[in-house]
Amino acid sequence: MEGGIPRAVAEELDAADPLAAFRKRFVITDPELVYLDGNSLGRLPAATSDLLREVVEKGWGGGLVRSWQEWIDWGARLGDRLAAHVLGARPGEVVISDSTSVNLYKLAGAALDAARGRNTVLMDAEDFPTNRYVLQGLADQRGLRLRRLPSDLDGGLDLDVLRSALDRDVALVVLSLVSYRSGALLDMAKVNELARAAGARVLWDLSHAAGAVPVDLAAAGAELAVGCTYKYLNGGPGSPAFLYVRSDLHAVLRQPVWGWYGQREQFRMGPDYDPVPGIERFLVSTPPLLSLAAIDPALALVEEAGVDRIRTKGLLLGRLADDLAAAWLTPLGFRSASPGTPEQRGSHVSLHHPDAWRICQTLAGEAKVVCDYRVPDRLRIGLSPLYTRFTDVWDALARLREVTAGRTYASRPADLARVT
Ligand SMILES: Cc1ncc(COP(=O)(O)O)c(C=O)c1O
Repeated sequence: MEGGIPRAVAEELDAADPLAAFRKRFVITDPELVYLDGNSLGRLPAATSDLLREVVEKGWGGGLVRSWQEWIDWGARLGDRLAAHVLGARPGEVVISDSTSVNLYKLAGAALDAARGRNTVLMDAEDFPTNRYVLQGLADQRGLRLRRLPSDLDGGLDLDVLRSALDRDVALVVLSLVSYRSGALLDMAKVNELARAAGARVLWDLSHAAGAVPVDLAAAGAELAVGCTYKYLNGGPGSPAFLYVRSDLHAVLRQPVWGWYGQREQFRMGPDYDPVPGIERFLVSTPPLLSLAAIDPALALVEEAGVDRIRTKGLLLGRLADDLAAAWLTPLGFRSASPGTPEQRGSHVSLHHPDAWRICQTLAGEAKVVCDYRVPDRLRIGLSPLYTRFTDVWDALARLREVTAGRTYASRPADLARVT
C-alpha cells in the first residue's frame, strides 16, 4: 500500500538532485539508518577526521604552544567565511566563539547596557528554552521588564502581536528566525523594520536557519545575531557558536564578560580592560581549538553547495514530507505541527501525535529512523539537504506509518529519557 505516492517518485527526485553527490562526503556507517536529525546534530563530514588528526598530531603534538601563532585567528577567519557564504554579512562582522547561549548573553547584555532609559525586553514565549532563561536572568539582574509575546506553537509569532508590543520602553527584541519546535520562519527584514521604527534593537537566534535557509543580514538590516554551528553547518557536537554584530555598532556596544581575548594588545597583559575596536571585542577566552577546527571542513561543504541550492532542495524535501504525511499519517492520528508550506518554514517539519514519544523511541530502535521528540507530543523531522535523500524521506515516513498503524510502540516507556 503506497497511498498514491510510489517510491519511484522519490527515486526520480534523487536522480535529478544536483546536490546528490554531497552525501558521499559524509561518514555513513549504517546505510539502513535514516537520519532525520541534522537540525539537532549534523552528520560527520568525511574530511573532518583527517583534518582533526592533522591538527592534533602536527599542531598540538608537533607545534605545541607555538601553534597558537596560527590558531589565534581561526575564530575570526571562519567567521569571515560564514559571513560571506552563509549569513550575508561583511568581513569583520562575524566571529566564532563560545556557545549560542553565552553569545546570546553577551550580545543581549551589550544591547541592554547601551539602551539606557528603556526597560523592556520582548521575547517569543515559545522560543528555545536557553534563550528564555538567559533573558530571564538578564532582566532579573538588571530590574528590567521581560514581556513574553504569545505565539502559536505550530504557526509561530504573529507580527501584529509584536507590532502592538513595540512601545517606547522596548530596548531589545530577541527572536529565533526559525522556530526550534515548529520550524516557523519569520520575516527578518520586516521584524527589523518594525523594531527600528520603535527605536528597539533585534537580536536574532539563527541556530535553525544557518546553512538551511538563505540569510542576508546586511540586506535585512540586522544588527545582532547568534547561532549554532553543529546543526545544518555540521561542525560537530558542541562546536562553538557564531556571533554577528553590525560594524557600526562595534564602537557603541560593550559586552558584559570582559575576557582577555577582547583586549587590545592582549599579550601586553595590561592592567585594565580596554577592548579592541573590532568584532574580537565580543570574544572572551581561549577557544576550544579542536572543535573550532572541525568547523572548517564542514563549512567548506556548505560553501561548495551554496545555501541557495541547499534551500531549493530543502523545499522539495519538505513538500514530499508534507504530501506523504497527508496521505499516510493524518489517517493515523497525526496532524501537522508546522506552518503549512515549506516556504513558511526552515528545514524541519513537526508532526503531532498523542503517542509521539513512544513512536519516536520505536522509530530509532527497530525501525532505524532517527528523528527527535519535542514536548508536547511532537516528532521533529529534520531535512538536511546535503545528505538527506528523497528516498530517505519516503522510507522514513513509510516506516513511521508502519510503526504507528501496528502500534508496535505500545510497550515503550512513556517517561521521557534524559535526552529526547
Ligand atoms: C534555537 C536554539 N538556540 C540555542 C540553542 C542552544 O545552544 P547551546 O546549547 O549551544 O548554547 C539551541 C540548541 O538546540 C537552539 O535550538
